Amino acid sequence: MEPLAAGLKGVPFPQPRKARAGCPHDSRRDASATRGMLESYFEARVRILFIGDIFGRPGRIIVKEKLPSLVETYSVDLVIANGENSAAGFGITPPLAEELFELGIDVITTGNHIWDKREIIDFFQMADGNAHSPSRRLLRPANFAADLPGRGVYEGCKGKVPYGVINLQGRVFMASNDDPFRVADQLINGLQAKVILVDMHAEATSEKISLGWYLDGRVTAVVGTHTHVPTADERVLPNGTAYITDVGMTGPYDGVIGVKKELVVGKFLNNMPVRFEPASGDVRLCAVVIECDETTGRARSIERVMV
Ligand code: FE2
Repeated sequence: MEPLAAGLKGVPFPQPRKARAGCPHDSRRDASATRGMLESYFEARVRILFIGDIFGRPGRIIVKEKLPSLVETYSVDLVIANGENSAAGFGITPPLAEELFELGIDVITTGNHIWDKREIIDFFQMADGNAHSPSRRLLRPANFAADLPGRGVYEGCKGKVPYGVINLQGRVFMASNDDPFRVADQLINGLQAKVILVDMHAEATSEKISLGWYLDGRVTAVVGTHTHVPTADERVLPNGTAYITDVGMTGPYDGVIGVKKELVVGKFLNNMPVRFEPASGDVRLCAVVIECDETTGRARSIERVMV
């Protein structure tokens, strides 16, 4: 990792004053060296925008409205989003997946709601023979049973930069799955790309933080999803993996994790069956921007975004 960039959370490029400090005796060589360093820095730079759980129509609309300006503002190279709640909070349909891809999202991750819309099974099975089709760029957790439809890992290129995306699901307070730690080991060993993002879709903060430490130095980023509440613990771990426990929801915050608040409060009060409906107010887009070195895959910074 570039020591200059390590830990500079939210700072997108090296500070000129620090770059010049190593050559105090020759201002021309100093300027040339600095320019060369900055050029190589920018040439090797990859910026990933990861958008937290897109919830229902409000979430899809704000992605449509804000994604172009976010890509421009942050000079984003690669866009990944969790879309498991994009169909009114429960699952994702083939047309909605296509819609999100058309907005500029390169890979969609999911989680425990992936099977809520049964037609997504057919979508997964459309991937025959094309390793980069939309069906292959929609992921389900890799540590689900291996013979289920879909896959939990994708490897492709954006421009000339190879990258990989791994989708995992936690086991604490969630349905029984295979071990996400050991599945991550296997998948990372099978990837050629240096730039690797892991979406850890999990309930327990301890499980997500543990995976971050476990994969530190082996992947570019471990980002948490599922709880829909953004956490303020984003950082680059010592060996170069960007980490955040939960990116937060992209959807209506005038509710309870995306659902109309009166329905959820009522459920807690009387425990009677209730059909959850999406909330609509206070819509926000939550994301992180991760900058890394494409040659090593090591993260330089991670910055939270809420618009
Ligand atoms: Fe979830």
